[in-house]
Amino acid sequence: ASNKFSIITYTLILSQKKKNINNQSYNSCQIPFEMEYGNSTENGIGKSNGISNGYGIGNGYVNGHGIGNEHGNGNGDVYGNGKVNGEKVKKMKPMDSEMLREQGHIMVDFIADYYKNLEDSPQDFPVLSQVQPGYLRDILPDSAPDHPEPLKELLHDVSKKIIPGLTHWQSPSYFAYYASSTSVAGFLGEMLNAGLSVVGFTWLASPAATELEVIVLDWLAKLLQLPDHFLSTGNGGGVIQGTGCEAVLVVVLAARDRIMKKVGKNSLSQLVVYASDQTHSSFRKACLIGGIHEENIRLLKTDSSTNYGMPPKSLEEAISSDLAKGFIPFFICATVGTTSSAAVDPLFPLGKIAESYGIWMHVDAAYAGNACICPEFREHIDGVENADSFNINAHKWLFANQTCSPLWVKDRYSLINALKTNPEYLEYKVSKREEVVNYKDWQISLSRRFRSLKLWMVLRLYGAENLRNFIRDHVNLAKHFEDCVAQDAHFEVVTTRYFSLVCFRLAPIDGDEDKCNDQNRELIATVNSTGKIFISHTALSGKFILRFAVGAPLTEEKHVTEAWQIIQKHATKFIHNKKN
Ligand SMILES: Cc1ncc(COP(=O)(O)O)c(C=O)c1O
Repeated sequence: ASNKFSIITYTLILSQKKKNINNQSYNSCQIPFEMEYGNSTENGIGKSNGISNGYGIGNGYVNGHGIGNEHGNGNGDVYGNGKVNGEKVKKMKPMDSEMLREQGHIMVDFIADYYKNLEDSPQDFPVLSQVQPGYLRDILPDSAPDHPEPLKELLHDVSKKIIPGLTHWQSPSYFAYYASSTSVAGFLGEMLNAGLSVVGFTWLASPAATELEVIVLDWLAKLLQLPDHFLSTGNGGGVIQGTGCEAVLVVVLAARDRIMKKVGKNSLSQLVVYASDQTHSSFRKACLIGGIHEENIRLLKTDSSTNYGMPPKSLEEAISSDLAKGFIPFFICATVGTTSSAAVDPLFPLGKIAESYGIWMHVDAAYAGNACICPEFREHIDGVENADSFNINAHKWLFANQTCSPLWVKDRYSLINALKTNPEYLEYKVSKREEVVNYKDWQISLSRRFRSLKLWMVLRLYGAENLRNFIRDHVNLAKHFEDCVAQDAHFEVVTTRYFSLVCFRLAPIDGDEDKCNDQNRELIATVNSTGKIFISHTALSGKFILRFAVGAPLTEEKHVTEAWQIIQKHATKFIHNKKN
């Protein structure tokens, strides 16, 4: 059945493309390329399906399946219960296996072409989208269609109207923020998940969805060499949250409940939490949602002396001072791989402090935790044995497409006690009740995706050793970039690099930090406006810093080298000024 689709030819309309290649600039709402679908003059689709007029996407469906008329030559705009050529038209159904098969193949081809074109025709895909706000409203209709439109037309619009408004996170020249890592296995997992579409809020609602999640998170915990108490065989266990933000929220709620059971319900205003000033903003949001007073969120200062890791001494002092004032310290959020600079908080001493005061310690390892499946990076989570919870974003750097955020807790009942609900309509009887997990009680929402399927597929279709090597490749590419920066006296590497993020900048001239910040701001704006690469920025100790994060699955050494050349080229303006 798949052969019939291979004859669909996808034609790039080159005229617009050439225009862009020539001037290398991207206007707002430009249409860099167009993919054409259908055009199967060989009649391959039609014949193999018993459909005459084997043309394109929407039409093919209507002719072939929509109307039970094998010789039908009606057009794609015939739907509903009407008649074409005297034959009764089948009612359109939301799910039709033959339509799924046919259009699904077309969609897979479209996506595969997208990845191929990202690699082969980068000039057509400005990495940072160059459109202006509101561009889409100007080119889409004001209201939804009353009648079905063909997939062909829709994909045409995707090519012409949506893709120009995308920032291409999967481009090999994407080096901004942290990557959103994808893979064939992750994609297939998403596809299977979307196809099966089960909702495993309780064990009963879809036993395999629950049981596979328990097993796969045990597998992953073992790859990360997490302590046994995080495994489902102990008191703890893992759950896949949608995002890191959700993960930190549920553990703040669990920790809040735990402490309030001890100190009483009226003590909310005395509860205090700790993190470093580098901690992801999701922590503050989680605290606010959890009712923690904003003024009780202590963000401890960091600087270059600890490479922006949280100093344990500051934590100890803050806790002592708060206790002396009658506050109740109950939560520490430590980070392994901060968002700004991939700094690492020292888990071992922080965990010891947490343990000695009975404070919940959460480890946010959203990005860098993934690297800890490699033995050479595992040391960065040494001390995790004293944490109460640990989170990584497998969609950041474990090739499990958006979204997939495994969270492990030491004591699953602390989470369940805080979040469980027992409506009658979800009750059920089951043997071995104590072995049954109901993931609705481990998260905010009731409905949940079968995300473990994707993670299972990633782990099985690559195997741990390949995953380790993918990560090592990214780290080596970052090292290559770092070497380039270090060899150019006009630039400086700003922080010690541990993983695949390089923090760097044009170096200040005569110690003028303000001018240096302005120049780096101008440099990044210029570089990103080329559309050839996308890097992002942060601020550390008042310095404007450029971030070069490797993690897109198509990135190779040549892309990194080219990125560096682009940055160097656009920096000559400032370097020239330096000589003057
Ligand atoms: C260290 C860290 N924690 C948490 C998050 C938030 O993760 P998510 O976007 O999955 O909510 C990020 C995102 O970049 C992050 O870098």
